[in-house]
Amino acid sequence: MEKQEAKRIGHRLVLVVYPFQGHINPMLQLATILHSKGFSITIAHPQFNSPNHENHPEFHFVSIPDGLSKTNFSPSNFMAAISALNSNCEAPFQQYMEEMMKVEDPHDRVAGVVYDGFMHFAQAVANNLKLPGINVRTSAAATLLLFAVFPDAHRERGYISFPESLARAPVPGLQSLDLKGLLGSTEIPTPILELRATMTDATKKASSIIVNTVHFLEQQTLTKEDTSCISWLEKQAPKSVIYISFGSMVSVDDKELVEIAWGLANSEQPFLWVVRPGSVRGSEWIELLPESFKERVEGRGCIVKWAPQKEVLAHGAVGGYWSHCGWNSTLESVCEGVPMLCRPYFGDQGLSAKYVCSVWKVGLELEGVLERGKIERAIRKLMVETEGVEIRQRAKDLKHKAELCLSENGSTYNALNELAQHILSFG
Ligand code: UDX
Repeated sequence: MEKQEAKRIGHRLVLVVYPFQGHINPMLQLATILHSKGFSITIAHPQFNSPNHENHPEFHFVSIPDGLSKTNFSPSNFMAAISALNSNCEAPFQQYMEEMMKVEDPHDRVAGVVYDGFMHFAQAVANNLKLPGINVRTSAAATLLLFAVFPDAHRERGYISFPESLARAPVPGLQSLDLKGLLGSTEIPTPILELRATMTDATKKASSIIVNTVHFLEQQTLTKEDTSCISWLEKQAPKSVIYISFGSMVSVDDKELVEIAWGLANSEQPFLWVVRPGSVRGSEWIELLPESFKERVEGRGCIVKWAPQKEVLAHGAVGGYWSHCGWNSTLESVCEGVPMLCRPYFGDQGLSAKYVCSVWKVGLELEGVLERGKIERAIRKLMVETEGVEIRQRAKDLKHKAELCLSENGSTYNALNELAQHILSFG
C-alpha cells in the first residue's frame, strides 16, 4: 500500500479508546499501523486514564469529558463505569465531531470512526454523521460469538444458566471448545449480558469489524515500567524464570497473595512477579507478604509494580508465564514461544485459557482454589519436568507459525494491507 494512495481521498481516522491498558495498547498499535499506511490519526479518549500524548507526537489527541472520577472507576465496578462512559461521552463526542467536520480541510476529511467495542456510543455518533463506524475488538475473534450468546429466557432471574449437558456441547467452528469453555461460566449476570447485547448490536451496525489477532511491538504504558527487572533477568539461567502478571484489571485477596508467594518459593524456580499497586484487596502493595517468604526468596525473586512485559517475555531467561489470560498477554506469550500457566478471572479470559490449554496445548490451567502445593507442582510441570516437554515444544512451534504470519506476504501482513484498502474504498 502506497502512502500516496491513502492521501488521495478523505484520510483522517478518529479512533475512540476505552481507557484501560489492555484496550489502550492495541488501539494505539492499530493507530500506528494506520498512520504508517498514510492516514492522519485523531485519538479521542475519555479524560480518565488518558494516554500520554507526548509518546505519540504524530497523532492529534482529543480528551472527551467523561463525567467520571477516579473513585467511581475501578476494575471492581467497571460495568457501571462502561455504562457511564457511554452515556456521558456521546454528546461531547458528537459535538466535537460536528465542529471538526464543519471546518475540515478537503484534503483531510474524516474517513471513519474507529472505536473500541466497549465505547459503543461512537457507532451511534458515526450513524448520526453518516460516517462509517469501524468496530475494534481487542479480544479473541471468538468473543464475537461469546458476546452474541444471550438467550432471553432466563433474564428475569438476574442471570442465565445452562444445564451441564448443554454446557458440555461442542461449539461448531471452535474446535474442541464447549459452550462452557466459550462463555467461561454457565451463570452469567444480567448486566454483563445486557452490555454484550448492546455491543453486539453496535457491531451489527458497524461498516467493518477489526479483530486483534496479532501482536505488534509498541510500548505504551501509563504506569511507569520498572526496567530494573531486565538487568535482574540477565543474571538468571536460560528458561529458568517464571513470570507472573495478571494484566491491568485483575485483583486478588490476601489469602491468594500468600498462597501465590509460597507456591513460587516452594517451586524453587526464580520468579519475576508483577504486583500492581492496589491489586491486592485490602492493601496498598505487598505489605501482607510475610518476612519469612522475603528471606526465603532473596535473590531468587524479583517483584515489580509494572514490567516491560513484551521485553520480559522475549528475554531468554523466561521459561514460563503465569497469566490471567488477557488477550494481549496471551498473544504476547504465544508470539514469544513462552508456555503458560493459566488462571483466568473474568470476561474473555476463560476462553483464552481454553485456547491455550485445550486447543493450542501450550499451557496448563490452574483451576479451583489457589493453593501453594498446587501452584508449586504446576510451575515445575510447566517449566522443568518431563511431563511439560511437549507443551514447551508446542509453544516454540507456535512462535514460529506466528512469525510466518507477520512476515512479508504472511496472512497478517496481507490482512493489514487489505484493511487499509478497504477503509479507502469508503471514500
Ligand atoms: C483487559 C481484560 O482483562 C482482558 O481480558 C481483555 O482480553 C483485554 O482487556 P488486561 O487485564 O489489561 O486487559 O490484560 P491484557 O489484555 O493481557 O493486557 C495487558 C497489557 O499490559 C499487555 O499488553 C501487557 O504487555 C501490558 N503489561 C502488563 C505490561 O506492559 N506490564 C505489566 O507489568 C503487565
